[in-house]
Amino acid sequence: MQSQLETIYAQAAAELDSIASGEALDAWEAKYLGKKGVVIELVRSVGTLPKEERADFGKRANAIRDALMEAYQRRSESIKAQALAADLEGGAIDVTLPGRPRQMGGLHPSTHTLRRFYEIWAEMGFQVYRSRDVEDDDTNFTLLNMPPHHPARDMQDTFHTTTPNVILRTHTSPGQIRAMREFGGEGTQPIRIILPGMSYRFEQITARSEIQFHQVEGLAVGKHIRMSDLKGTIAEFAKRMFGQNAKMRYRASYFPFTEPSMEVDVECFLCGGTGCRICKYTGWLEIAGSGMVHPVVLRNGGYDPDVWSGFAFGMGPERMTLLRHAIPDIRYFWGNDLRFLEQF
Ligand code: PHE
Repeated sequence: MQSQLETIYAQAAAELDSIASGEALDAWEAKYLGKKGVVIELVRSVGTLPKEERADFGKRANAIRDALMEAYQRRSESIKAQALAADLEGGAIDVTLPGRPRQMGGLHPSTHTLRRFYEIWAEMGFQVYRSRDVEDDDTNFTLLNMPPHHPARDMQDTFHTTTPNVILRTHTSPGQIRAMREFGGEGTQPIRIILPGMSYRFEQITARSEIQFHQVEGLAVGKHIRMSDLKGTIAEFAKRMFGQNAKMRYRASYFPFTEPSMEVDVECFLCGGTGCRICKYTGWLEIAGSGMVHPVVLRNGGYDPDVWSGFAFGMGPERMTLLRHAIPDIRYFWGNDLRFLEQF
């Protein structure tokens, strides 16, 4: 048996050496290493031998099988390389042909704007804090100083779920409460974050309003934060976003969760302030709602309003993208029409 093994080994190796084509190689493999191949049958036949011969025979048979498999791999690669070289030489492959361009995907215009936001706010020392889309009524309203029956609740028509008090957030401001409750209370820490995310409002969809849209909330809480910090911070953001010469104005406003509150306008970057359709001939575009965090909200977040103060703002990236590119209809944003998306 042992000598038969060696004969077969020598024969298989010799045959392999003379093989030059893929077909011949396949046939060789089937003959020796296939399921019913000679070598494999030999390996299997170990069971028919007398006990004392089995170990030696098995070891040698396995070694031969492994050696042949390895030689087969090497042969297979060299045959492939030879075939490729022949193709190149014979002109079957034209290496001067230009490659086929691949279709590239693109980023959504909102993603572009959001990424620009992250960049600018990061440069200004604000970290991104992610809060949830599904909120409870308390965090979305009550803790933000809008108790039940507060008229401001009507300004934000709400998507309710079948679970009582579980809603889709109507703005990113509830994230203020969640962040403050994480960093406030015991061992209170200052905060400087932006909270980007989707907001939802149960409204009629029109060219100007959608039921879902991004907001980028900002929150800074510290020991000596004043209104001038808010003004300076937003002005700096606007310069980085709209250019160093961007002109700003602040208008007194009202939000239940900030006091005092103001809205921020930037001079219309499409007409340069002379008045156009996009700025509705006012020369100004609104970019943010903002204000000093209301003492009630600070307390609800675990910050003592006698010691801590802060500012907050909310911006709408879709609105800014819309204005920037003079897009006439907000419904394009979630319409998934490639003719729209491919323009960015
Ligand atoms: N949450 C407000 C809105 O959706 C915007 C805002 C945020 C105002 C933070 C003041 C401070 O309109």
